[in-house]
Amino acid sequence: MVKIEKEPRAAVYPAPAALVSAYDDKGKPNAMTAAWIANICADPVTVVVGIRDIRYTYELIEKAQCFGVNIPNVANAKEADYFGVVSGRDTDKFKDTGLTVFKGKEVDVPLIQECPINVECKVTHIYKVGTHYAIFGEVLKVYYDESMIDEKGSPDLLLSDALVYGTGHYYSLKERVAGYGFSKKKED
Ligand SMILES: Cc1cc2nc3c(=O)[nH]c(=O)nc-3n(C[C@H](O)[C@H](O)[C@H](O)COP(=O)(O)O)c2cc1C
Repeated sequence: MVKIEKEPRAAVYPAPAALVSAYDDKGKPNAMTAAWIANICADPVTVVVGIRDIRYTYELIEKAQCFGVNIPNVANAKEADYFGVVSGRDTDKFKDTGLTVFKGKEVDVPLIQECPINVECKVTHIYKVGTHYAIFGEVLKVYYDESMIDEKGSPDLLLSDALVYGTGHYYSLKERVAGYGFSKKKED
């Protein structure tokens, strides 16, 4: 394999084109696109998101100590991009896009109805890394749109048509290759 070398850059892609959401202190919802986000711990179930402190969403999360993670689908790619190129300091992105909000049950977070996956998080740690802060959120509840639940009752990412991001572009998921652990299963 011939390798092309590059200087350090964000290269761990694809990533979810997630919408990270929070309320302001008057109960107005905001969200921003965040691709630098990952599951990080199983017990307690925890996610981590890298957010620059100049983002309005950072300010809201720091105050509220909770946030939502919403995974959009391909049909909402334009809205998902919009949430990443304008600031909630300047406009109401929900009004602008027509996306709608439902309230979390465990913490006071806005969750996005049109996104097939929604996660409610309580902030557990915030660490300054450099330009970005790593915000750790314990997952308190997860919601799946019923349209992405397969006949066995499990969530299926292909059915959700989840939007992913990397190297300056948005992508869709193409196909399911195999199940977890399939490499160790005996062929019949
Ligand atoms: C695809 C995409 C991914 C992004 N990922 C991140 C990210 O992981 N962390 C971050 O701080 N900003 C990220 N941004 C930039 C913010 O979403 C953007 O600055 C947004 O306007 C902030 O909104 P706010 O001021 O309402 O919080 C991303 C933008 C796009 C379009």
